[in-house]
Amino acid sequence: MEKVLVLDFGGHYNQPIARKVREQNIYAEIVSYQKITVDEIVAGGYKGIIFTGGPDSVFEPDAPHCDSAILSAGIPILGIGYGCQLIAYMAGGKVTYASEVSEFGVTELISDGSELLDGFPPVSACWMSHRNHIKEAPLGFHVTAYTERCPVAAMENSNSHIYGVQFHPEMIETEYGELVLHNFLYSICGCEGEWRMDRFVDDKIAQYRERLADKKVLLALSGGVDSSVAAVLVHKAIGDNLTCVFVDTGLLRKNEADMVETTCRDILNINVTRVDAADRFLSALKGVTSPDEKRRVISEEFNKVFEEEAKKLGKVDCLVQGTIYSDVLERGAGDIAFTASGDAGSLQQVVEYGEMAEPLRSLFKDEVRRAGMALGMPEEFCYRQPFPGPGLALRCVGEVTQEKLDILREADAIFSEEVAKSGYNRFTNQYFAVVTDTDSVGLLGSEHVLGKTIVLRSVTSDDFMTADWSRVPYEILATASARITSEIKGITRVVYDITPKPPATVEWQ
Ligand code: XMP
Repeated sequence: MEKVLVLDFGGHYNQPIARKVREQNIYAEIVSYQKITVDEIVAGGYKGIIFTGGPDSVFEPDAPHCDSAILSAGIPILGIGYGCQLIAYMAGGKVTYASEVSEFGVTELISDGSELLDGFPPVSACWMSHRNHIKEAPLGFHVTAYTERCPVAAMENSNSHIYGVQFHPEMIETEYGELVLHNFLYSICGCEGEWRMDRFVDDKIAQYRERLADKKVLLALSGGVDSSVAAVLVHKAIGDNLTCVFVDTGLLRKNEADMVETTCRDILNINVTRVDAADRFLSALKGVTSPDEKRRVISEEFNKVFEEEAKKLGKVDCLVQGTIYSDVLERGAGDIAFTASGDAGSLQQVVEYGEMAEPLRSLFKDEVRRAGMALGMPEEFCYRQPFPGPGLALRCVGEVTQEKLDILREADAIFSEEVAKSGYNRFTNQYFAVVTDTDSVGLLGSEHVLGKTIVLRSVTSDDFMTADWSRVPYEILATASARITSEIKGITRVVYDITPKPPATVEWQ
């Protein structure tokens, strides 16, 4: 399959770039510059390479660099931001620091016809984020765009197929950003756009049918989208040889556990064993107030419950996990679909099994959702909003108690219902309630009573690395607040969180 390498020199825009590439139907793989050699890149058969990076200065002694032999490997290269400066530096251009040339935000880009910028008008908007700049492009490179402060906003050497842009094509503010990637991938690298979710799903099913034929396979279903999509995919490959253990932690949203069970068992015909472990989780969480401790306790308890259930099944040949690409990048694991027993991970240490399979490990979250759709799963199931693994425990500030969970589940359901009913769910990416430990005075008739405070939070975000608070219309907030205080006992106050990320995080814990 055709693929492009996103060579990562640090920083945070490698994933947005890789996602944008995949949106153009080309498979992109992110690899750190420290983990791959030029020979390996050449042997990897990549159609093109994209250099990304962070805020470093290419001319500092410890700045991330790669072997400059890459420039003559014959593979088209596109450098973005730091990546563009690195190309200039390695090819003999001049990169300098000057505080008066730094640019952050939207800037006017003047471009002058080029292969990479084909389709750009003479003047357009672009997103800039740089302190250093390329003062002189290297010999053999043409400058194809500039801004008032940046003399080399884009450059190219079409004989060597090497291109660079100082601006960020992945940012929505760059008007013609998609064209940069499209021109590079299709016109320059000659890609054909083979990366499609229906094809991915069909290939995986065929591959797993062969590899897991006649094997006893086990999967831990958490209730989230990832493990559910993995379950459906493997089930399509091997049918009833797959057993799913669904651990109901009691920390899911209202009706969610039933929906997961019904969807998997009745609609998708998957063999599911549901374990009701709510009481166990609640007692394990007794007295725990720190979010990190909650995460640890929940993960440990999940493993224990899963292990007990798995033991009842005897020896299994393969454990399937719903690991996705961001998990792989986080733990820095290599890109292999099947690993031997004992390798990194958590659940595989608790069951006796032969191998582990991670069918979704190359997919970003939005691709997992699309894979679910390609597998025929219901849309409302695949497009559920993000929900943290430790569930509602993270949305009970302080100790998790049955009372707080009950209140929270109801408040959350009311807010969700109101947001969805109004159609505002199309304009926000995540919306939920949090129950705090702050008791405040309220009026019940003419009596003063103490009650809990509920926080409503709603954010818009592309990738959840940053987020803005959603401008939820007052009417929706008013109805939700009125319903929450009148329909749920014990709540005297409802507040709306108006903090973006940063400085806040999306969740309260
Ligand atoms: P934060 O709070 O870090 O959230 O700004 C960003 C996104 O990640 C989700 N989130 C989690 N997901 N385990 C998870 O699986 C966690 O511990 C966790 N904490 C936050 C959060 O819901 C948001 O979408």
